[in-house]
Amino acid sequence: MSNQYIDTRQGHWLLSKMGKKVLRPGGKELTLKLLEGMEISGKDDVVEFAPGIGFTAFKVLAKNPRSYTGIELNKEAAAGLKREIKGLNRQIIVANAAATPLPSSSVDKVYGEAMLTMHVDKRKSEIIREAARILRPGGYYGIHELGLTPDDISEENKDLVQRDLSTCIKVNARPLTKSEWSQLLQNEGFEIINIYTNSMLLLETRRIIDDEGFFRTLKISYNILRDTSARKRINEMKCVFKKYKNLMNAVAIIARKK
Ligand SMILES: C[S@@+](CC[C@H](N)C(=O)[O-])C[C@H]1O[C@@H](n2cnc3c(N)ncnc32)[C@H](O)[C@@H]1O
Repeated sequence: MSNQYIDTRQGHWLLSKMGKKVLRPGGKELTLKLLEGMEISGKDDVVEFAPGIGFTAFKVLAKNPRSYTGIELNKEAAAGLKREIKGLNRQIIVANAAATPLPSSSVDKVYGEAMLTMHVDKRKSEIIREAARILRPGGYYGIHELGLTPDDISEENKDLVQRDLSTCIKVNARPLTKSEWSQLLQNEGFEIINIYTNSMLLLETRRIIDDEGFFRTLKISYNILRDTSARKRINEMKCVFKKYKNLMNAVAIIARKK
């Protein structure tokens, strides 16, 4: 991999190239809590915003929903998913979650992980509004995103975290506090059903082992070790996550369309 490639690639794609499959801030643990709370069953038409490499998609498909639609902006990721997700009432659409081609009030459950954080607040709201549009009344929207803590974090600390995250993971990461995430959902007509939090330990060894399993962790470590440029970038990311470990967490929220 060339240095330029490593230096400009968004953090999640770099980690994914190293073999990391779980890329959401609260890890597998928070994903499983979110899915349990969403109560996905065989009666549900389900939409996932930004399935990425499909980690959660496969967990949801194992519940055999009536239909599954993944809305993924990245053509490369979508092509990989299309190869693996086939069958009746299963589809992957290359589209922006802020403007899907799906009809209004047509689905029961919508969820998305580690995708709102990378958008400015106006775009976050557009995506949330789209979830509200496609959901049937009473339907659930689940999110799993990067959080800021405590709820009354100073503006100064907030700016510091956002600035350093953007520089190191090469996306305009804009995490929010638990109350701010809730407010954005409420602004689009959602009622908050449940909020879960977890620590943000994406690059800590114990979380990697928990998320990826022992042997995949070895493989990821080997890939990082033999690639100097990737190692440098990943160490920088780890440093920022460590520096702000008391100001960042992972937030998952389940909201109901009224
Ligand atoms: C950090 S990855 C997370 C992927 C997956 N949800 C996960 O947790 O492993 C971010 C993904 O969001 C996708 N994405 C970002 N904004 C999007 C949007 N507006 N519509 C659809 N996909 C989007 C990107 O293409 C990328 O695959």
